[in-house]
Amino acid sequence: MTRHLLRDDDLTPAEQSEILDLALELKRDRWAQKPLAGPQTVAVIFDKSSTRTRVSFAVGIADLGGSPLIISTANSQLGGKETPSDTARVLERQVAAIVWRTYAQSGLEEMAAGTRVPVVNALSDDFHPCQLLADLLTIREHKGELAGLTLTFFGDGKSNMGHSYALAGVTAGMHVRIASPEAYAPREDVVADADRIAASTGGSLTLYTDPNEAAVGADVIATDTWVSMGKEEEKLARLRDLGAYKVTRDIMGLAQDDAVFIHCLPADRGYEVDAEVIDGPQSVVWDEAENRLHAQKALLVWLLRQQ
Ligand code: CP
Ligand code: NVA
Repeated sequence: MTRHLLRDDDLTPAEQSEILDLALELKRDRWAQKPLAGPQTVAVIFDKSSTRTRVSFAVGIADLGGSPLIISTANSQLGGKETPSDTARVLERQVAAIVWRTYAQSGLEEMAAGTRVPVVNALSDDFHPCQLLADLLTIREHKGELAGLTLTFFGDGKSNMGHSYALAGVTAGMHVRIASPEAYAPREDVVADADRIAASTGGSLTLYTDPNEAAVGADVIATDTWVSMGKEEEKLARLRDLGAYKVTRDIMGLAQDDAVFIHCLPADRGYEVDAEVIDGPQSVVWDEAENRLHAQKALLVWLLRQQ
C-alpha cells in the first residue's frame, strides 16, 4: 500500500522510531542505501521559497542513487491551470515519489489521493513533518532517548511548526509544551489528535500562556519565525502579539542546565530569539539543519520500501 507523509501523525510511534534509527545509520554511512539507483527521479515541487529543504532533498536523492527534479510552481502548470490530482497522475508515470512544499494541506491530500507513488509534505501552512524528523534526530543525538523529555515551543502554536511539534513530539513520547498567546494556541483538532496519541505513548501536550512557566525544567527549547511564509500581511500584529514569547538568555536560564535550543531556520535574530541564544553554546541549530539530509533520506528509503 502506498504510504505518504502529509502530517506527522501519518507515522506510528514505531514507524517514527524506525525512520530515526535508519537516519542515524545513513548518517554514519552516507552511501549505504541506493534504492533509487537506476536512476529513478523524485519530483520536488516548491510553491514557496526554500534553502534547506531544496538542498537536502536534492543532495539526499542523489545520495540514494536517484535524480532530483526540482520544480517551481511559478513556471509549471500546477497552481495555475492544473489541479493537484491531474498533476499527480502525470508525475506518477515518471517519478518514484513526489515531494511538495505548498500552502493548503488540502492540496497535498488531493495529490496523495490521486497517485500511487509516495507524496511527502515538504511544509504546508499546517505541518512541517520533514523538519520534525530532523529535529527529533538532533534531540536524540544530543539527549539519547526521546520519550520522557520535555520540549517547549515558543511562538505561533497554530503554525506549521507549532502543530508539528505537538504531533511528532507526543508520537515520540515527549512532554510537549506550547507557549503562546491564547489566540495563537494550536488548532483544537490538532490538540485532540495529540492528546489521543499521547494517551498511548506516555507523552503529553500542555498549552501555556506564561512563557516563564513553560520554560521551567525543559530539556529542549524551540522556536520559529513569528511571520511564516504567507503571513506577511499580518507582520505588525504578529510582532506585537508574540513579543513576550522571545527566547532570551533568561528563558534558557529557566530550562535544564543542559537544555538545547533548536530552530528550524531561517531565524529573525532579535525577534523570536536573541542572537546570544541561537549563536550560543546551547544552540544545536546547525546539526539540526544538517539532519534534514539524513532524516529525509531515511524517510524516502522507508516510504519506497512500503511500495
Ligand atoms: N527549515 C526549512 O524548511 O528551511 P527552508 O525554508 O530553507 O527549506
Ligand atoms: N513557519 C515557517 C517555517 C519555515 C521553514 C514558515 O512556514 O515560513
